[in-house]
Amino acid sequence: MIVGQGREQWGSKLGFILSAAGSAIGLGAIWKFPYVAGTSGGGAFFFVFLFFTIFVGLPILLAEFIIGRGSQKDAISAYRFFAPGTGWHWIGKMGIVGSCILLSFYSVVGGWILIYLVKTVTGGLSGLKKQEFGQLFADATANPLTAIIAQLVFLFITILIVARGVQKGIEKASKVMMPALFVCFLILIVRSLTLSGVGQGIEFLLYPNFSSLDSKTILFALGQSFFALSVGVSCMVTYSSYVPKQENLPKSATTIVLMNIFISLLAGLAIFPAVFSFGFKPEAGPGLLFVVLPAVFHEMPFGMVFFFIFILLFLFATLTSAFSLLELVVAALIKDHQSKRRKMAWITGMIIFILGIPSALSYGVLSDFKIFGKTPFDLADFLASNVFLPLGALAISIFVMVKIPRKTLLQEFSAGTSSGKRLFVAWLLLIRYVAPIAIIIVFLDVIGVWDLFF
Ligand code: PHE
Repeated sequence: MIVGQGREQWGSKLGFILSAAGSAIGLGAIWKFPYVAGTSGGGAFFFVFLFFTIFVGLPILLAEFIIGRGSQKDAISAYRFFAPGTGWHWIGKMGIVGSCILLSFYSVVGGWILIYLVKTVTGGLSGLKKQEFGQLFADATANPLTAIIAQLVFLFITILIVARGVQKGIEKASKVMMPALFVCFLILIVRSLTLSGVGQGIEFLLYPNFSSLDSKTILFALGQSFFALSVGVSCMVTYSSYVPKQENLPKSATTIVLMNIFISLLAGLAIFPAVFSFGFKPEAGPGLLFVVLPAVFHEMPFGMVFFFIFILLFLFATLTSAFSLLELVVAALIKDHQSKRRKMAWITGMIIFILGIPSALSYGVLSDFKIFGKTPFDLADFLASNVFLPLGALAISIFVMVKIPRKTLLQEFSAGTSSGKRLFVAWLLLIRYVAPIAIIIVFLDVIGVWDLFF
């Protein structure tokens, strides 16, 4: 992104898609998908997630693109642009709150990645037995000082990049890092798929046992599809506001969705065969990746070298998502006054750090401290993923329906495309009916309203 006085633009045509994909692909697909699939029964969760991603997440992603590029404004001003003098800009404001909550626990996991990076370099992972990786994760995350410092360092890097507006460098790095991440996963999968637990692992991930589905699992699948696509908090509104008018938005959105599903699948295929082969538990929770993957690498020649490369790429993918979360908040607060960027990045970054401290301590001193039966980490995750993102997404779908004229929608949708018109009708159907109705049904189901009638 080129940051000067006034409005910014992505450095190249590829810049936008890479950056938007960079925002989308991160902890959601790599870390959260396997662990939530693991705690939610596996295959059935995967199919519900797939349904929501394609029929709800994708249309909303496109809606965010249209709002962003159509207005060329930040997450709050964009809504004011289309609906001046109304309360619709609260979608953006709620998005900012949601992003801060999200980044507060996201940075804790980012910190864990840093801890593992240091451990790999200093040899702390070599020579361990498979079963010892669980203990390693527990020890690494329980130490309050390490957890907080790691979280802070992760946020520092995020703030530095957003403060300087040097996303241009990131765009370039993404060109190499993203494909490298794919390759790394493929190598991992070859190893995982030749382990003895492969049948059980694949069956767990892909065989849908729909009797394991309940309303909570369905809500989690909905939240997961939004989390992994970065939709619901107007992050993609912000990113697409830097997009040139000739960019083909439906194509960009579809590419991002497909990449995301692919990476989620790769992460699942890398993890679950090993879970069964090594005797871990699929429902291990947020530590799943950190416990299982080092054990898989351990089974490979030069395992620790590969693990080092993997963890670096994983860190990069996580950072590019974290930038987008902070960028959305900063861009909305400074509007187009770039001179305030640095100060605002530091202030909001530090507020998010303080907000995240209880999450950082959730695996140590605060592990018994529960609010609504959840640790601060789980609560922040639940609120962001399963409340703010779906509600934001619902509001966005209604906003598009009632506030943006059909002509404008069509114009933004079909710019740069050849077969825009027919696809447009399909998208309208999804965004007007399928997406809002699906979200409302999931919420009613969770609240238990259904039980009153059936
Ligand atoms: N999509 C990001 C990930 O999967 C997280 C994210 C959510 C980023 C919402 C921005 C907005 O890691």
